[in-house]
Amino acid sequence: QQKERATLLEANGYASKLYRYVLRNTEAGKPAMDYLRSRGFTDKLIEEFGIGYAPSRWDTLTQALQRNGFDPEEMERGGLLLKRHEGDGYVDRFRDRVMFPIHSGDGRIIAFAGRLMSAGQPKYMNSPETPLFNKSRTLYRLREARGAIRKTKQVVLFEGYVDVIKAWSAGVENGVATMGTALTAEHAAVLRRFADEAIVCYDGDNAGQAAAYKSLPLLEEAGFRVRIALLPPGMDPDEFIGEHGAEAFVREIVEGAVSAVKFQLIYLRKSHILLEDDGKIRYLREAVKLVARRDSPTERELILRELSQEFGVSLDALKQEAADIRRQEK
Ligand code: UTP
Ligand code: MN
Ligand code: MN
Ligand code: MN
Ligand code: MN
Repeated sequence: QQKERATLLEANGYASKLYRYVLRNTEAGKPAMDYLRSRGFTDKLIEEFGIGYAPSRWDTLTQALQRNGFDPEEMERGGLLLKRHEGDGYVDRFRDRVMFPIHSGDGRIIAFAGRLMSAGQPKYMNSPETPLFNKSRTLYRLREARGAIRKTKQVVLFEGYVDVIKAWSAGVENGVATMGTALTAEHAAVLRRFADEAIVCYDGDNAGQAAAYKSLPLLEEAGFRVRIALLPPGMDPDEFIGEHGAEAFVREIVEGAVSAVKFQLIYLRKSHILLEDDGKIRYLREAVKLVARRDSPTERELILRELSQEFGVSLDALKQEAADIRRQEK
């Protein structure tokens, strides 16, 4: 077991070297380099993040691994190769994709994510679960971000690898991302060792906002203070930085992240029509329910006061309703 892990780590390191070489030094790598450039990746970013390119031939890595004495069957278990559907032998799992290496806590490469450069499915292909790689525990970039997370006591959660990379270049060095899966309690527990506050900075589309909503209880149960960064509808952090620049991203989006309950209220609002008293009352009831669940009396009062002003309802009435809910839910 231990021996197989060592072999797989070595193979991943070898594969990464090959992918990086192909991107930087070969004709086959040119379109990938152009693609990265067109997306604003500088040499510095490409180097810092170890980005490479898996060529489109069926067996570049397969051949290279075999020449170096790696056992293809073992490489298949490690997620680098696939068994041919027909006939004997193996082929490369990653072909014609821009490759992002994923590191373990001690800096070894445990997996890859490969992105297509044109439309197609899946857009990202990730390594499968292997003896080295557990998706529900691994966070992209955690090893490198750990220092900054400890120092700021704050972690910024992104949806995408590219978002982590561009945020880093914008000066946000405490960012990590899940591996194309939802955030788990295990992720939260890992991060909680380094940070007190989590800022959720997911995409501004419906999927991203729904994922942010779902992450709240998970993060709060792990003991985080949580804030949510609000991106313009349909934009992700990479796109925002490209359009508005690093400074606006840090100041408006990251530092301007709203509290968990504020975000829940914004989210709740989308599903309510507030034109008639009926709708307003239904919304307010749900809203007060969310506020009532907050532990801090100060926070409850602050939000209730805002609601009271906005809807022209007395603060006393809202407080009364919150108190009733708290009693019922106890
Ligand atoms: P997005 O779908 O938001 O990526 O996926 P995007 O912003 O359009 O494309 P890029 O990253 O800017 O090029 C966000 C994350 O979801 C996972 C990946 O982790 C990705 O970074 N994902 C997405 C997958 O695992 N597989 C997919 O097919 C798509
Ligand atoms: Mn998305
Ligand atoms: Mn995105
Ligand atoms: Mn998308
Ligand atoms: Mn994107």
